[in-house]
Amino acid sequence: MTRRAVVKGVGHYLPERVVPNAEFEKTLDTSDEWIKARSGIERRHFAAPNQTTSDLATHAAKAALEMAGMQGDDIDAIVLATSTADLTFPSAATMVQHAIGNTKGYAFDVQAVCAGFVYALSNANALIVSGQADRVLVIGAETFSRIMDWTDRATCVLFGDGAGALILEAEESAGTSDDRGILSTDLNSDGRYKDLLYVDGGVSTNSTGVLRMEGKEVFRHAVEKLAQTAHTALDKVGLGPDDVTWVVPHQANIRIIQSTARKLGVGMDRVVVTVQDHGNTSAASIPLALSVGVNSGQIKQGDLVVTEAIGGGLAWGAVVIRW
Ligand code: UT7
Repeated sequence: MTRRAVVKGVGHYLPERVVPNAEFEKTLDTSDEWIKARSGIERRHFAAPNQTTSDLATHAAKAALEMAGMQGDDIDAIVLATSTADLTFPSAATMVQHAIGNTKGYAFDVQAVCAGFVYALSNANALIVSGQADRVLVIGAETFSRIMDWTDRATCVLFGDGAGALILEAEESAGTSDDRGILSTDLNSDGRYKDLLYVDGGVSTNSTGVLRMEGKEVFRHAVEKLAQTAHTALDKVGLGPDDVTWVVPHQANIRIIQSTARKLGVGMDRVVVTVQDHGNTSAASIPLALSVGVNSGQIKQGDLVVTEAIGGGLAWGAVVIRW
């Protein structure tokens, strides 16, 4: 028998304020046409001034708990992927823990920027497989609108705010690729590329900073590395692209999503796409897309789902889940 981390619930939250591309035309030399053509983004959500990352995360967590039929205190561990936590410390995860009424578990943040959710899932899976937790709440939540340079048209039109959450629960399974749950993970990073995508401030440099990106270079790495990590994760369980029901990629750019699908050998009719409505929400983008995919009836129990993401670090990875 093999212990697996099986998905029991999923949920998401998007702040009320929707910002269409046209809004940027008022202050920047840009256009709805350029943003749509180069990124696929049509609109994004921005958090209200008093809304923090843990607020968004809590909404998503409550929705996932409801789908799982669980209470806050049923959870053993909370792993929250974010690069935009409310405070330097404590972790946003402990704020969610308090907000959902959990006192018996342990909570911590994971920071791997846009690859954050894939890293968080992999860590949550390890907690379950090793017996350190039976039920884990995994969240991706971001308020990237707080770290934008609003004068830089090459970056500020691309990002948005939001949160998504998943509940994983331990189950004993046969140990085959037909099992429900997380079947494999593949994580990578390469700090030689740290200057391609970063925030130019932080606690030990005494400022908050804003996001800086060499978009073209990140694009090039993304297309090369995403298909490769997805292939590796599938290989680990003896599966291939033909076995995949849904690819749920990090939602940064429709052209990256299309190129990766092509390289993987998976048609776009098997890819969940939300980038047009959410923009790039960093660590929140995959759980948001998973939740939208489930709620729209696309992703069903038994489907083979592959997630893949890349972001600052560079850090990238993939997770294979039998839903
Ligand atoms: O989530 C983490 C991972 N991040 C990503 O995956 C993002 C990866 N990169 C990208 O998605 C794309 O590189 C961008 C969407 C950022 C840019 O698209 P691109 O096709 O690589 O455009 P570019 O950077 O080569 O810029 C082309 C032109 C430039 O003008 P010149 O030099 O050709 O005159 C830019 O100045 O487009 C210009 N430009 C814009 N024009 C109108 C850049 N931003 C804008 C804009 N509106 N917002």
